[in-house]
Parts: sequence; structure tokens; C-alpha cells
Amino acid sequence: MSMLSISLTVNGRPVTATVEPRTQLCDLLREELNLTGTHLGCEQGVCGACTVVVDGKPQRSCISYAGDSDGCSVTTIEGFDDDALMEQLRDAFSRHHALQCGFCTPGMLVTARDIILRLGETGAARIREELSGNLCRCTGYVGIVDAIEEVSRGRVAHDLRAPIVAIEGVVVRPVDASTRAPVPANHSAVSAAPSGAGPRKGWSSIEQRLAVGFPPEIVWDRLSDIRQVAACLPGAEITELEDDRVRGRMNVALGPMKIAFNGDGNVVLDAENRVGRLSGGGRDAGSGSTAEGEVEWRVLSGEGAGSLIRVNLSWRLSGRLAQFNRAGLVQDVIQRLASIFVSNLESTLKGEVINEPSIKPIGIWSLLLGVFRSRVAQWRGKNT
Ligand code: FES
Ligand code: FES
Repeated sequence: MSMLSISLTVNGRPVTATVEPRTQLCDLLREELNLTGTHLGCEQGVCGACTVVVDGKPQRSCISYAGDSDGCSVTTIEGFDDDALMEQLRDAFSRHHALQCGFCTPGMLVTARDIILRLGETGAARIREELSGNLCRCTGYVGIVDAIEEVSRGRVAHDLRAPIVAIEGVVVRPVDASTRAPVPANHSAVSAAPSGAGPRKGWSSIEQRLAVGFPPEIVWDRLSDIRQVAACLPGAEITELEDDRVRGRMNVALGPMKIAFNGDGNVVLDAENRVGRLSGGGRDAGSGSTAEGEVEWRVLSGEGAGSLIRVNLSWRLSGRLAQFNRAGLVQDVIQRLASIFVSNLESTLKGEVINEPSIKPIGIWSLLLGVFRSRVAQWRGKNT
């Protein structure tokens, strides 16, 4: 198996490591760096016990590849020993009896700190919503929420329009695509649309850029047949396609939840500018959850005769699934999907066998990721 050499910063210390492509960030932290304050509960992105901060944002380390943290700055609960806000939170958790066995506590504290930094002073209802991706099996949430609310009092939110993510010196701003600085090819940038900021309240988005060694006209040709899109993605099915309207189904596995979205959408293909856009929504009858989403893909001229594919996915969940919106689970999973997509795409281009992702795709937007993979495989077959 080929190994990955990575360099990152963990709790302010430079770290180099050699990891398998499948190594999870939590395993690197716990097994190799002995940072066992990061706890593992569900190991499928649901409980939040493994939450760490990656480049300033909370992230579930159990569903993050260690390889994706190359070049990143990671802070675990141990890295907050001298953090003034974390010290206040620790004291407040003790005062409010906000822990019993303590298993959930590292993840709770990391998430709590992020809530206060983003929102400043905030109330119990919002804290519960924000905290809904962190599960506690013994204490209950009253003490936890009280502690966070107390520490939040009098605090001012950070400027959410300020840059929040830096990747290799490139700054990515939340949501507003028009202000985004260029992101290097083969890197993904995830931003959760903060409430009240950005053009779409309550929406989250992810942008992925990918350089490929085929001319834009060939790439566009392969990425503009929507009917073949559905055929490429397990769990997705297009049942109707007429003009610019598409109707279909999407089976989703989100942790232990199995959801089947039925929905429809609208497709716009701008061949002149090589821009495609699919927007729509679906509903899961079982949970009553609804999902709205939009994916836009652009094929640009790349280096030499190659192309740059830029994909922007944005989404909003409501109903039972909405608890995962801000909690980061969906962002984490989509980020992982994006990484898997890039990895699979690169494998395909090299003529290597693709390792199927071990997690199921989410929502109709993943459908497009599947499309790109398949279409590139197809055109590669035709051009080699
Ligand atoms: Fe439960 Fe990672 S261990 S979310
Ligand atoms: Fe035991 Fe939260 S204190 S799981």
C-alpha cells in the first residue's frame, strides 16, 4: 500500500508523519501522538466526542483522513490548556456539574468554545441548536447549556465576514463566492454559512477545485449529460428528465440514519461559458426532513492544455436532519466525499483501480461528484 508523508501543526508543534491513505485523523492523534484527550465514541461522525479544531473550525476527527490534514493546523483539547476562554469553560462546566463520566467533555468543550467565539453572547435555545451534534450519554444537557450560556455573557461575536480558513497561505472567506481568493487545485475548502451572514442564511457550502489534463471542451462535453449523472452514483436514480426539469431519488446514510429523499430540481447548462447548475430539493417521508441544494460546476482553462474544474455545493437541511446543519457533520462528510472524489478521480486518470468510498453519498449534490468521476473515466477510456 502506498503511504502518505504529511506535515502539519498539532497544538502549535510541527509534526511529520507517514500514514496510510485510510488513516483517520483521530488515530494519528491518539495512536501516534498520544493525544488521548480526543475521545472516540461512535466513530461514524455522529456523537462529536472526537471533535478537534482544524484550521480554526471544529471537525470530527473520526471521519477526517489524516492525509487531508497535510499542511493544516490541528488543535486538540490538550492544545487549549493555556487558552483563557477554555479555562473559563472548564471552570463553568465544573460549577454547573456539566460532566459525569467526562467522555463527551473534550468534544463538548471544543464545540462550546467555537459557539462562543462565533456567536458571542447567546441564549439557551441557540446553544442547544448549535450543540446538537454533540451527544452526552449520562449528564444530560442542562448543566452543559447553562455553563456555556454563562461564559458567553457579555462576549462579542467574532467578525464572521473575516477570513476563517487559511490553506497554504490562501484565504477562503465564508460563503460569498465572489470574494473567494483562489484555492490551489486538489484542495477543498469548507465554510459553514453563519447565520445572518452571507447571501444565503442558514446555508452551508463547500468548494472543490480540480486540475485535469484534458482540454476544457472535452471536459465540458463529458460533464454536461445529466442523465448519465444518475447512472453513475450508487443510491441515486433519475426517474424523469424533461428539458431542464429533473426528478429522482437519493438514498442517504448519515451515521446510523437511513434516509431516502424524493425530489426534483432544475438544470441549467451554459455551454458558452461552460457552467452547469443543478438546484432543487427533496423530502424524506420517514423523518419529515427536507433538503435544498445547489451545485454549480465550471470548466475553466487550466495549465497548458488542461482544465480546471470548479465545483461549488451549497445546501440547507430542515426537519430532523437540521440538527446536523451547523453541527458540522454534514460538512465533515461532504468534505470527506470531496476528498474521496478527488482521490478517485486522480486514480481513474492514472488508470488505477478506484477504492469505493466506505461512506454513502449524501444528497443530490453528491450525485454530481459521482458524475465527474464516472465521466472522466468514460472520456479517459475514449481518449486512451
Ligand atoms: Fe463520534 Fe467521531 S467518535 S463523531
Ligand atoms: Fe458522560 Fe457526557 S458526561 S457522556
